[in-house]
Amino acid sequence: MSHIRKRFNAPANKKLVQFTSSLPFDRRLYKHDIAGSIAHTKMLAKQGIISLKDANCMIEGLNDISSEIEKGQFIFRDELEDIHMAIEARLFDLLGDLAGKLHTARSRNDQIALDMRLFTKEAISQTLKCLSDLQQSLVVVAEKNKDVIMPGYTHLQPAQPVLIAHHLLAYFEMLQRDAERFSDVQKRTDIMPIGSGALAGVAYDIDREFLSHELGFRKISQNSMDAVSDRDFVIEYIAAASLCMMHLSRLAEEIIIWSSAEFNFIELDDSFVTGSSIMPQKKNPDAAELTRGKTGRVYGNLIAMLTTMKAQPLAYNRDLQEDKEALFDSVDTLLASLEIFAGMITTLKIIKENLDRSTGGDYILATDLADYLVSKGENFRNAHGITAKLINYAAKKGKALNQLNLGEYKRLSPLFNKEILAISKSSSIATKNIVGGTAPQQVDKAIKKAKEIILKSKKGGF
Ligand code: ARG
Repeated sequence: MSHIRKRFNAPANKKLVQFTSSLPFDRRLYKHDIAGSIAHTKMLAKQGIISLKDANCMIEGLNDISSEIEKGQFIFRDELEDIHMAIEARLFDLLGDLAGKLHTARSRNDQIALDMRLFTKEAISQTLKCLSDLQQSLVVVAEKNKDVIMPGYTHLQPAQPVLIAHHLLAYFEMLQRDAERFSDVQKRTDIMPIGSGALAGVAYDIDREFLSHELGFRKISQNSMDAVSDRDFVIEYIAAASLCMMHLSRLAEEIIIWSSAEFNFIELDDSFVTGSSIMPQKKNPDAAELTRGKTGRVYGNLIAMLTTMKAQPLAYNRDLQEDKEALFDSVDTLLASLEIFAGMITTLKIIKENLDRSTGGDYILATDLADYLVSKGENFRNAHGITAKLINYAAKKGKALNQLNLGEYKRLSPLFNKEILAISKSSSIATKNIVGGTAPQQVDKAIKKAKEIILKSKKGGF
């Protein structure tokens, strides 16, 4: 019988053991758990709570367990409930009673809070790195296709011409906000909870600051009851991941639409498409579709965790064990999606002719005609009406705007003169020369700025 069941007169029911065990998934925290235990042991020795000799033996034992796990030699026994008990039990095998000293001035409640914080901190760093890699892919494609004009859409109807670089950099901005959000979550995750004990704090003279420093934390928690029962940081990670997945899902949607035969704006590289089992002509954008699909499970994890937390009285409750799968799944899903997107974007080909052709229906310049009339003194509402009539007229005649002659323009407004015949997608774009606009000078500046941001993030800032 496990040593935490000594008060009971019966062994645990098998179904209960299975139901309560977190070992199938929390074994993933072994490194964090062992790092926490080693720091704890050092601190106990430093404070004279255990001897240095004992501490050294315990640390050696913990390191041995770590390499056993890494080599796949460790036996995970479900009846041991969780990763903390599994490691401690193995330490008993190796050291006998000495292992019993490890849990001095500590509870599994602050121990799991520590492990989860260490895990989340690491996940945030990985997420930031993947975000920056994807941002870089977007900038590479934007720069390579700097002069390519495409139709900008509203309501998925061609609206105004834009540079494709401008369109791609919109996603750069979204991902930058994501990165800022994750960095912000990091501040509140970076807090060391050991010393909270089960809930009340501990009765030993431990050095929490030393532990915090040893484990690389920024701060120590200030209320033991909060520290063992708070999982805000998990929820915040999943919330930031949900937003980021939502951004990826929007980009996925565009990739799917753009690579359809109807649009044919882009071609995904053969290494990033899948085939159909019966239709040999198919090149399917499965990575984009799956990312769009997986967005739902991350949202699901967010709702699951919010719901798990919402009615728990202070302090620790076993409900908290539900935090792990929700967090692990969100981290895995987000990192995999970011990685696949970086590869897919870097390798895709923009089909310039098709983007040109599609903007060729030059009614997309209607707003520019209205703006032109305004520049000649017309008020915008009238200018809008005149241009609408002009487009109707051209459509009835089956003509593009650039096939109309000046007489046809002048019939609708005497303010039109021959400059209007020179209006084009490029001239339209050039007029949007305002910070945040699609004019080439502005997009050049945006690319430069984006590169600086990427460089900074590679150096560890954001
Ligand atoms: N497996 C538990 C969890 O994930 C660890 C803490 C157990 N604490 C306890 N009092 N049963 O939350």
